[in-house]
Amino acid sequence: MNSKQLFKKAISIIPGGVNSPVRAFGAVGGTPVCMEKGKGSRLWSVEGREYLDFCGSWGPMILGHAPEKIIQAIERTAKKGTSFGTNTAIEVEYAQTILDCIPSAEKIRVVNSGTEATMTAIRLARGISNKNKIVKFAGNYHGHSDGLLVEAGSGLLTEGKVSSAGVSTSFATETIVCPYNDIKSFSKIMATEGKNIGGVVVEPIAGNMGLIKPKDDFLEKLRELCSRHKAILIFDEVITGFRLAATTFGTICGVTPDLTCLGKIIGGGLPVGAIVGKREFMEKLSPTGDVYQAGTLSGNPLVLAAGLATIQELVGNPPYDKIKRLSSRLKDGVTAFSKKHNLEISVSQKGGMFTIFFRKSAPINLDEARECDTNKFAIYFNGMLKEGIYLPPSQFETNFISASHNEEDIDIFLESLFRVCHKIVNY
Ligand SMILES: Cc1ncc(COP(=O)(O)O)c(C=O)c1O
Repeated sequence: MNSKQLFKKAISIIPGGVNSPVRAFGAVGGTPVCMEKGKGSRLWSVEGREYLDFCGSWGPMILGHAPEKIIQAIERTAKKGTSFGTNTAIEVEYAQTILDCIPSAEKIRVVNSGTEATMTAIRLARGISNKNKIVKFAGNYHGHSDGLLVEAGSGLLTEGKVSSAGVSTSFATETIVCPYNDIKSFSKIMATEGKNIGGVVVEPIAGNMGLIKPKDDFLEKLRELCSRHKAILIFDEVITGFRLAATTFGTICGVTPDLTCLGKIIGGGLPVGAIVGKREFMEKLSPTGDVYQAGTLSGNPLVLAAGLATIQELVGNPPYDKIKRLSSRLKDGVTAFSKKHNLEISVSQKGGMFTIFFRKSAPINLDEARECDTNKFAIYFNGMLKEGIYLPPSQFETNFISASHNEEDIDIFLESLFRVCHKIVNY
């Protein structure tokens, strides 16, 4: 069956034909491409068409698709059995390896997704602080647990929803939403509500309304105010963890949160999440503490084998300088093209993450991100797809460059973008 036939069948038996909403191409139209295999920077559809990939399975594939060392680690481990529901040697090695990379982290709990990690971190924040309210930032996405589905980014933004049916209003009343990069509003919230606020969760670099970088002292000020009001500061580094170096962005920028959530890269392409933090906080988790958390398949050996092999590669043979160089080449190319033709196109880029915004300048918060021309984005996306470039199918996502991309890949991307965007100018 081709992609169209498979999607038609999928729609009849899977809600929307997808197992995660943004994959349905709702924001860009057309039929989602059904992928069959990947290698390095390339994906191949069921039709056998080759695509140059900048979606990277939404972030985990920092080493590219099917890296030899990761596949071997998974195969070696699978031969011994896929799950025991007991302690394993690999979970100890995995935990130690991650903690060695993150100076502020003394203990780690591994879960099965980023959603689980943030949900657990919020519960932990409430358990530690004995305060119930949570602050999140508009356009940040922290997975699909109830209390965090308020003014969320990613698929919710793509679908134009600020919340979700089925989430009790009592959850929403306990979640205070603050504009991203707006420390004045945050200070006001803390001044009036600080005594009730148990946790503050933030993407230290926002990736779910397109890539939006924090303003200079935004994170430092969050740290200062959380400490003053005894609120637990949670960095959601599901995207940024191990992205810019073999550590967290918190480590790189010198701001230490109380808890950090990880996911994506640390599972090497298999389902994972983790919470790390200071010993005293992490020990509040069950069974040492009274904050309950559990998981039948948590710390699954296959996941940890893939994750461990990925982290070892990132530590032993860091690809970060190369990725940054490629990413800057892409940014410079798009920026020069946009300037030359006076286009309303801007680029936000950090390490291997980038978003091309259909707006004169890169946004700094959700209100500005909403000003992007999503019709032009849809034309751009479909044009790039025709050219054989696979991108996340929404304006409000981050694209990823991996260690397996090279200069030629970036130039192919740029040449395609130039061709496609010339058409947009005339649109
Ligand atoms: C910053 C952030 N946090 C949490 C999540 C949720 O992770 P998962 O999809 O693994 O549940 C995501 C997913 O994209 C994310 O980008």
